[in-house]
Amino acid sequence: MSVSFTVRITFMAQYQHVIVGSGLIGSFVGGIIGQSARVSFIGRPNWLGRLAEGISLTDYAGNKAEYKANAGQCLKELPAKIERSIIWLTVKNTALEEMLARLQPVIAPDCIIVCCQNGLGATALTRKYLPGIRVLHGIVGCNVVWDESLKQLQKSTEGEFYLEQPEDLAPEVTRALCAVQHKLLMLHWHKGIEAVAWAKLQLNLANSINAIVNQPVRTMLLDRACRQVIAALMDELLAVTAACNIRLPRLTRVPARYLPAVLRLPDWLFKRLASAMLHIEPTARSSMWWDLQAGRVTEIDYLNGAVAEQGALSGVACPINKSVADLVKSLETSALVAARRPLDGNTLKFKLHLE
Ligand SMILES: NC(=O)c1ccc[n+]([C@@H]2O[C@H](COP(=O)([O-])OP(=O)(O)OC[C@H]3O[C@@H](n4cnc5c(N)ncnc54)[C@H](OP(=O)(O)O)[C@@H]3O)[C@@H](O)[C@H]2O)c1
Repeated sequence: MSVSFTVRITFMAQYQHVIVGSGLIGSFVGGIIGQSARVSFIGRPNWLGRLAEGISLTDYAGNKAEYKANAGQCLKELPAKIERSIIWLTVKNTALEEMLARLQPVIAPDCIIVCCQNGLGATALTRKYLPGIRVLHGIVGCNVVWDESLKQLQKSTEGEFYLEQPEDLAPEVTRALCAVQHKLLMLHWHKGIEAVAWAKLQLNLANSINAIVNQPVRTMLLDRACRQVIAALMDELLAVTAACNIRLPRLTRVPARYLPAVLRLPDWLFKRLASAMLHIEPTARSSMWWDLQAGRVTEIDYLNGAVAEQGALSGVACPINKSVADLVKSLETSALVAARRPLDGNTLKFKLHLE
């Protein structure tokens, strides 16, 4: 008697990559993924045009890559259905809720979402809107800026891509997510991603001060009174994380807990010991400053506002983060914001009732 076997081999389609909200971070991450995999971009016409014309991706260490999308990869709206895709969600926190409502009817259960927003709250909101979809927290540890004359997206600070590592991720999903690994942006998997988010938030607390004082970031950092305010914001965050038993990983050369002390150093010593912090374009401003100038709602609620909120939940008072968040919110609604004068650090300390 002869026995015959039928072997059925099922080929699973590879994961597609979709960037949802391709501005600075989406185009940078998408350009990197595009070095090794197919990626589609959903964004505004200005960014889709740049991607279709071709852009360079660079970093301060001299690494470089080129990327050019074809017209079929660039979409102004979400498609009618998104299946078996890694969705890199890169809109700002302020645009997230609207985008999640649009994603709800089109996303298939086999998709994976990576939330790339700064601050606290984006991943929880995404899980609430899209139950049943696997949502991972991704943290872009560096700053990215656009140089229009060079058509270049520049990684302007140290910092890599930190990605939540759950126990039960399927090997093919892990492989697909590794497309973000590149010499321009190293991929680091983290089991305790919440701690990384807090460590990144500590670094982002200065964005609001830059927006309020209306000075370039470098000028702000050379003003000891401004640094003292930033240090006070960080002290509050460190007290909240300590109360929550969150141990902050090291994202910069100086460990998180020593940053406030470094910022408080007298100018002459700060310039010597923290010269790397001052290696920034003399005209560079924080993205929150740009948002205020353009009359846009800022991400303050997810940054300093979130520290104050978590502080209240943990029984740790965060009056300076709360006052700074209130100040930024008052500027958001001020008609005179674009015409206001620069503020020096001592005046800011006075406004915040700081010694
Ligand atoms: N830039 C950095 O260096 C950096 C570093 C680390 C983390 N992050 C975080 O990454 C997130 C994204 O920041 P980003 O700097 O990349 O912001 P961004 O440049 O403003 O990019 C977001 C893009 O999404 C677009 N968008 C919003 N809603 C959309 C919709 N419904 N359909 C299509 N496009 C839409 C925005 O257009 P509109 O402007 O017209 O709304 C914008 O072009 C933020 O949470 C930020 O804090 C930024």
